[in-house]
Amino acid sequence: MAKNKSFYVCQQCGSQRSRWEGRCNDCGAWNSLVEEQPLQISHRPTRSWTTSGGNTTTSEVVNLGQDMPETQLARCKTELFELDRVLGGGLVPGSFVLVGGDPGIGKSTLLLQMCGGLALKNKSTLYVSAEESVQQIGMRAKRLNIQSQWIQVTSESSLSKILQITANLKPEILIVDSIQTVYIDEVSSAPGSVAQVRECAAQLMTLAKGHNITVFIIGHVTKEGNLAGPRVLEHMVDTVLSFEGDGHNQYRLLRALKNRFGATNELGVFEMVSQGLKEVENPSAIFLEARSEERMGAAVFPAMEGSRPIMCEIQALTSTSYLAMPRRTSLGVDLNRVHMLCAVLDKYLNLELSREDIFVNVVGGLKLSEPCSDLTVAAALWSSKFFRPIPQGAVFIGEIGLTGEIRPTIFMEERIKECLKLGFHTLYLPIGHQKQLEKHEALKEIRVHWLKNITELGRVLGQGTQKPPSTHIAKQAQKKLPEKNDSSS
Ligand code: TYD
Ligand code: MG
Repeated sequence: MAKNKSFYVCQQCGSQRSRWEGRCNDCGAWNSLVEEQPLQISHRPTRSWTTSGGNTTTSEVVNLGQDMPETQLARCKTELFELDRVLGGGLVPGSFVLVGGDPGIGKSTLLLQMCGGLALKNKSTLYVSAEESVQQIGMRAKRLNIQSQWIQVTSESSLSKILQITANLKPEILIVDSIQTVYIDEVSSAPGSVAQVRECAAQLMTLAKGHNITVFIIGHVTKEGNLAGPRVLEHMVDTVLSFEGDGHNQYRLLRALKNRFGATNELGVFEMVSQGLKEVENPSAIFLEARSEERMGAAVFPAMEGSRPIMCEIQALTSTSYLAMPRRTSLGVDLNRVHMLCAVLDKYLNLELSREDIFVNVVGGLKLSEPCSDLTVAAALWSSKFFRPIPQGAVFIGEIGLTGEIRPTIFMEERIKECLKLGFHTLYLPIGHQKQLEKHEALKEIRVHWLKNITELGRVLGQGTQKPPSTHIAKQAQKKLPEKNDSSS
């Protein structure tokens, strides 16, 4: 038998096969298996250089009963407050971070700006770009007004050379842009293939852990939106950051998808301007920016993104369907929840949604996963169906159950604080919170409707017995309706 028998690796999920198959049995991807040769090298060549005496094989053993050395616990702030928050309070020395995102979203800009911030703290960084020349990085740095002796940049794509340069310069932070463009000579496949990405990442991980260098790698995303390369990359790193945004606006969202040193649901908001990325201090304001007057089918919800509430607008549109099966479309809210809410609204508020096309959308591209946005979606649907505006300054929070009950939720105080900060003055809340919140001074100055079930929502919003208006009587309906209309059943 030949010793160097080649094998086939799925470029989507990283699983291996001994022979070629048209479809990967593990992830179901078609035509994703690529032939690879077994590796001829020792897996950990970084032992060739060391920072302490040459014996890197001796592992450090620390007793948790004793105090850890301060240096091992200290986090380093990057001067980008939003990035620090997503990282869980700053950089952890020796951590291995993957930053993923669509091309052109601003990954390189973000990390270069981070270098600028770290330079102010006298932290040495080495920025290795395999995609851009030193001149290009220099031009970008000039544009971003970053100039410091603490930042070194180089353009190199061979990993062994990158490791060599790192050994010479001994930076505290290393940035590799991007992992799909660096390569190891010993691996026969092309840069960006699963084998290359996995090997390069493994060597960089050894560097991070063995020499306490914080390593950032930039990763591209596939056309499906997953981080390119295999899942193994995500297992290997300590933190996976995802930089998102759509091409139509200048706002960028930074999320932690995995974080060994902090919470994963934190969100950082940036704005791309001509001088690079600017932190957005009050993200609620941007998601509600266009909201100036009462509109049909739009209601406001304070979503929790990590530890921070962000106000967002949920819009709904119902219109008579001419299809055999009316359409239901939802962006930013789970479609199954919309189906469920339609059924509940049909049953308890007699909304007759079964013959309507229904569209639900969260403004600004936010994705809501909390069930307590139910009440807001229900209010928006109600408003669109009856063609009546939701009162200005109103906020809805609460999960709706199948029996129509409105259930309490978590982080209520944080959400209410954000509402008050932004001037919202009418709250629709689950009755389950009444006892706990009623004594709060702040709530005495505003209007709070404690709701037990969905029927009460219909009552306080002023559900009438009249038929929903069609478009030609829209003008008539525009007239401001009284907020309370006690036509309860
Ligand atoms: P870049 O960081 O190169 O994206 P990535 O590394 O994720 O591919 O960002 C490129 C985009 O950012 C480009 O479309 C232009 C825009 N940009 C600005 O608007 N202002 C700036 O100051 C910079 C540096 C980039
Ligand atoms: Mg880039």
